[in-house]
Amino acid sequence: VNSEFGQLIGLYEDAARLYHHVLMNTQVGEEALDYLHKRGLDDDTINTFDIGFAPAEGLLKPFFEERNVDYQTLRSSGLFIENQDGQLRDRFSNRVMFTIRNASGKVIAFSGRLLHKDPDAPKYLNSPETKIFHKSDTLFNFDLARREIRKADAVILFEGFMDVIAAYSAGVKNGIASMGTSLTTDQIGILQRVTNTLYVSYDGDDAGQNATHRALSLISGQSNMDLGVVQMPEGLDPDEYLRKYDAEHFRGVYEGAKETPVGFALRYLARGRNLDNQSDQLTYLNEVLKIVAGVHSPVEQDLYLNQLVDRFGVDKASLKEQLADIRQTQT
Ligand code: GTP
Ligand code: MN
Ligand code: MN
Ligand code: MN
Ligand code: MN
Repeated sequence: VNSEFGQLIGLYEDAARLYHHVLMNTQVGEEALDYLHKRGLDDDTINTFDIGFAPAEGLLKPFFEERNVDYQTLRSSGLFIENQDGQLRDRFSNRVMFTIRNASGKVIAFSGRLLHKDPDAPKYLNSPETKIFHKSDTLFNFDLARREIRKADAVILFEGFMDVIAAYSAGVKNGIASMGTSLTTDQIGILQRVTNTLYVSYDGDDAGQNATHRALSLISGQSNMDLGVVQMPEGLDPDEYLRKYDAEHFRGVYEGAKETPVGFALRYLARGRNLDNQSDQLTYLNEVLKIVAGVHSPVEQDLYLNQLVDRFGVDKASLKEQLADIRQTQT
């Protein structure tokens, strides 16, 4: 395979092997390996995901130059940064390296995480787009997860790579993540060839909830997928939840009740409101009823109405009356 494509795949394969070797077998990798162990990853998991470490001093440049890889190939590989004189240096330094693979398991990119907090650098640095890496149709862990997604007939969408990895190590193996952006039409299409059910399991913090809200409307606008939400309590992200509790609790959350998109919206719209205050209550009820009005199944609708009756002590008949009014103006 002498094509540019094959050549780039070869470079990424070599790079992944080197980063992984540095992490597992060398002294420069020790601190990063400690860091990963402290975050609860065992060597099996580190091996499965081919996690590596990019040391502070250049690693790839001398390696590839010694093997006479030509300048243009190195330049277009995305593994280097070019200075004004056209000199190349390793793009990733002092970062824990997450390997991004395509659907057939070939390494096509990296995401490097800072080992130490640095306010002047992004926490995660991704490879740029290349001939082999298109962010918009790449899903982290899809190669390992595909079979599990088929088996479970559902896919779980996580916010971060560490969440996917944590879930996998706890036995929840049908998880994927996008490359730090919203799901694209292409990514939705890729998933729909395997399953029609998707659970959004983003972080429990405000940013994660906002992103969940956006993801649900985006995906439902672009597909007929059945959607649900699994969100960690206490504002935690899935990885943090697993570390705070254990694998059994973690699996329990995913086996347990999932929120419907409307159930999530009811909770989401209540955030930041003082629902003991009558005027806030009314605003909330009006917003929520607009959403419930869009629910087609009478049983599902009843579920939400009962929830509102219980919570606010309002009369179900008046809720239904208002629903009818909303429907009239919506049509
Ligand atoms: P940890 O701190 O390692 O547990 O990461 P996290 O996955 O919890 O990170 P966070 O919730 O902050 O972000 C979720 C995802 O957004 C990450 O996995 C990345 O894909 C992406 N992301 C976060 N920070 C950055 C950044 O600085 N740059 C880019 N490009 N992506 C980021
Ligand atoms: Mn290995
Ligand atoms: Mn987050
Ligand atoms: Mn997170
Ligand atoms: Mn995290």
